[in-house]
Amino acid sequence: MKTISKSKSKFIPVNTPKIYKDEKKYVNKCLTTGWISSEGKYVKEFEKRFSKYINKRYGVAVSSGTAALEIAMKSLNLKKKSEVIIPNFSIISTALCVVKLGLKPVLVDVDPKTWNMNPKEIIKKINRNTKAIIITHIYGFPVEMREVLAVARKRKIKIIEDTAEMIGQTYNKKKCGSFGDLSTFSFYANKHITTGEGGMILTNDKKLYSKCISLRNLCFGSKNRFDHDDIGWNYRMTNLQAAMGCGQLNNISKILKRKREIGKRYISILKKCKKITIQPYKNKYATNIFWVFGILLKNNKTISRNKVVLQLKKRNIQTRNFFYPMYKQKILKKLKIFKKNQKFQVSDDLSTNGFYLPSGLGLTNSEIDYVGKTLLKILQ
Ligand SMILES: Cc1ncc(COP(=O)(O)O)c(C=O)c1O
Repeated sequence: MKTISKSKSKFIPVNTPKIYKDEKKYVNKCLTTGWISSEGKYVKEFEKRFSKYINKRYGVAVSSGTAALEIAMKSLNLKKKSEVIIPNFSIISTALCVVKLGLKPVLVDVDPKTWNMNPKEIIKKINRNTKAIIITHIYGFPVEMREVLAVARKRKIKIIEDTAEMIGQTYNKKKCGSFGDLSTFSFYANKHITTGEGGMILTNDKKLYSKCISLRNLCFGSKNRFDHDDIGWNYRMTNLQAAMGCGQLNNISKILKRKREIGKRYISILKKCKKITIQPYKNKYATNIFWVFGILLKNNKTISRNKVVLQLKKRNIQTRNFFYPMYKQKILKKLKIFKKNQKFQVSDDLSTNGFYLPSGLGLTNSEIDYVGKTLLKILQ
């Protein structure tokens, strides 16, 4: 490992969003007309345009991707203790939307080639108590879904497709998020398109759509408004956020193109490095859209992930460690919901040795070169 002195270079954050002129124009319209709450034309417009873009019939805009998962899960109205298959390697929201409803999460390890849920393992874990699967696409490259979708259809298991990290991605030429009975999205500032905070649920099912609409808005009573029909949330998206979403959507092709350029540029710098693994750029069903650019250190014992990250930090480069596996999460362990003595070797490897580099839309080519070359030097 090369010693690197503390840098005087500009701080490079792990993400910076890009905001175009349409967003400013539409948000300004909300401000000047006073339509700043969840009432206002942009919420419906964003739902309509986003669902059309992904190719689903109905859209429900909400306050975050986490809110989208909670509403989607509840809308399925599953019996307590039903099993829901989820990834071991993802954001905690995936497990929380299951346990909060008294359902049983069943964990699946990662496919080492794609860093996504291992489809063979999903199928192995299906039994007669399995009522839903949350298919979660990770970091820009989709889950190999073909077999899982076929089995789920046959056995009437519901699919929630968590598409938070994959806006605009395709799987076999069809948009990710168009496969689930329900699909969920996040528009947090680091996502492909952003509304600051925000999320969306899409579905083709009118009943699920009506239920999601109701759950988003405190399930106000259908007969007497203040005699509520169910236990819901205020997870509404504001017109201001939706206005921003409409502007971002105008720029989605540009955004995806740039994300791929960022990924390709990192690959061209790092491809000869034998000490790391990266997610595939392309295979027979997809081309990566690099929500983030992940680095997995091979277990070579010469330098740990934490040391690499620290060295990058000293050079003003911010990184983020990969997810921490669900089965190790202290808050979930306390609930005693997972089978004992399960092994999740691939998730363990990713969470111990993985981190991602700056990959936001605000990043310049010279910053990418600096980050990539600095990483190479550290790993020498
Ligand atoms: C796969 C996945 N699902 C859901 C979420 C939750 O989205 P939010 O942060 O908008 O609540 C995230 C957040 O990054 C995510 O990565």
